[in-house]
Amino acid sequence: MTQSYIGFLIEQCLSRRGLLHSALLATALPLASLQSRAATHSLGFKSITGSKEDRIILPEGYVYDVLIRWGEALSHRVPDMDATGIQKGGLLTADAALNQLQQFGSNCDAIHFFQLNAAIKSTQGVLCINNEYTNDWLMYAGRKQAFGNDPQHVRDYILQHPSIVAMSKAAHGISVVEVQRDHGPWRYLKSSKYNRRVTASTLIEIKGPARGYAWLKTQADPTGTQVSGTFGNCAGGRTPWGTYLSAEENIQDYFGNFAGFYARKKNDSAVMAAHQRWRMWSDVSPYGWEVMDQRFDASLEPNEAFRFGWIVEVDPLNPHKPPVKRTALGRFAHEAASPIVAANGKVAVYMGDDDKFEYVYKFVSAQRFDAKHPAANADLLDQGILYAARFDANGRGEWLPLVYSSDGPLNAEKGFRNQAEVLINARAAADVLGATMMDRPEDVEPNPLTGKVYIVCTRNESRADQNVQGTYGHRKIDVGPNAANPRGKNVWGHIIELTENNNDHSAVKFSWEVLLMGGDSSAGSARQSENTEDVKTDHPVSAIGSPDNIGFDAAGNLWIVTDGPQPENNNNGCFVCPVMGPQRGVIKQFMSAPVDAEVCGCVFTPDNETLFLSIQHPGEGGTLDNLSSHWPDGGNAVPRSSVIAIRKKDGGVIGS
Ligand code: FEO
Ligand code: CA
Ligand code: CA
Repeated sequence: MTQSYIGFLIEQCLSRRGLLHSALLATALPLASLQSRAATHSLGFKSITGSKEDRIILPEGYVYDVLIRWGEALSHRVPDMDATGIQKGGLLTADAALNQLQQFGSNCDAIHFFQLNAAIKSTQGVLCINNEYTNDWLMYAGRKQAFGNDPQHVRDYILQHPSIVAMSKAAHGISVVEVQRDHGPWRYLKSSKYNRRVTASTLIEIKGPARGYAWLKTQADPTGTQVSGTFGNCAGGRTPWGTYLSAEENIQDYFGNFAGFYARKKNDSAVMAAHQRWRMWSDVSPYGWEVMDQRFDASLEPNEAFRFGWIVEVDPLNPHKPPVKRTALGRFAHEAASPIVAANGKVAVYMGDDDKFEYVYKFVSAQRFDAKHPAANADLLDQGILYAARFDANGRGEWLPLVYSSDGPLNAEKGFRNQAEVLINARAAADVLGATMMDRPEDVEPNPLTGKVYIVCTRNESRADQNVQGTYGHRKIDVGPNAANPRGKNVWGHIIELTENNNDHSAVKFSWEVLLMGGDSSAGSARQSENTEDVKTDHPVSAIGSPDNIGFDAAGNLWIVTDGPQPENNNNGCFVCPVMGPQRGVIKQFMSAPVDAEVCGCVFTPDNETLFLSIQHPGEGGTLDNLSSHWPDGGNAVPRSSVIAIRKKDGGVIGS
């Protein structure tokens, strides 16, 4: 890593700065006090350099524990997965699938920590962890690496090994697991009463305005009120009332036979339009579940896909309570869901739709959060208004309500017959409203210290340099730059900072600026800030590309984990920058991941002495015959996604 590689501040224009400073003056007192608090947290660790090594690299003085690996048992009733047998076909059995139902799932993503006993200092809690997807070619001997490129192979392989559908369904979803640290490493408790798997087959309630709507009804569920399972669970959130939110993201990869569906004569044209808007058109899906299970065959169950793409709420301390899909929060490729209580007591939930040229959303509850009666908040996410964001070139913006009305913009003439259709086809509703098409908005989270909201646009290689018409997601759109996504071929991504009017999270107007652009400024692929010299660094500035999930420490510093190309082709990692003071936006690298892994999670214990990260899909670029990673177990081991807990060897706050 060299100093010329830089994740740098961008101040877009002087007039905007003036405007933003005016906006800040309205809240001058609290911000001033926040800035002095933030200045006390030094981020004094010595940054590491990027690496291509197949291991976790941390700054001096830090250690990590592998807390739980894919396949480790969450109960004494099943054995741990025998990873040494995977290359010999060990997962091609019905027993393997049954065991996976009670083992930690695959490809961990979001992590949230629910402290169990405040008296014992953040060392005992329950983790809720998403298990987003499976790398079938690293699980099943003889399965090719092809991801949708060889449909005949997928179909033939599944017909030959039908039990892998049950195995893969069991490896998806959510894991709830109790964790603890005494004086040594973090460990999970195999026999905890809280341990639980939610898989692609677990019974889940559907609630909110779309519950029971015709589009949610199937042969298995003629009421449209209950669905079997969840998958594509990417990032998530933690509610103020102590529940976990899990975001269903890439659901299009699980449904097949769309040629058969589109050829049907009896189709409702609005249903077809909704599936096309989500780019649902596979004949054989990458996972091929439809080969064995007709609910994933769009020609037989065209509504099943409408039952996915939601936010799922899980109560981690009530293992027998069914999870709930909250339809009021809309249906799109949900990356995350980040709740915060607004000044008026209503709850805002910030969300990104992680696809190219998609939108940033916010839900605001109709009712107020009741801190004294946690049970009163149980269905708070069922009533409220969903908004999509429009970013204007003057540094201002507006939240546009996705509300059906016969005399409003979302009406039958525009393709929406009621609020359920608006929520199920939220992307199309946001199109009509003129929301701003973003560069794959992944995590969207408010900084709990300042209330400012950070929107992580991971990248968008399809963004053109010029404002020209193109096609994406079955839409003819302007694929060129806009104010909030200013870079053509945005290969390194960027992060936007949004300030709600009066710092009120229920507000419908906001101001915004780009906090940082990722990439390599020396090669000209990143946009050079005219004010780069204004940034006084006390350390080399680390390069960053493909920012994905974020987290905040107690001092309000922004922690960023990455998924995708990095400058100098290094592995993914974990980075941090202050968002206030002279070092604002100046990145330091804290951790480097194993080969082909992405880093997700990024959540601290309340005392900030432990950072939990998900190491997702290590070795994804390899095959079982030619492994590219052996993490975490080394030697000749098959790579396994795992959660790690990072701490200071001698104790203390992470990053200090
Ligand atoms: Fe599952 Fe957008 O990352
Ligand atoms: Ca992600
Ligand atoms: Ca990602």
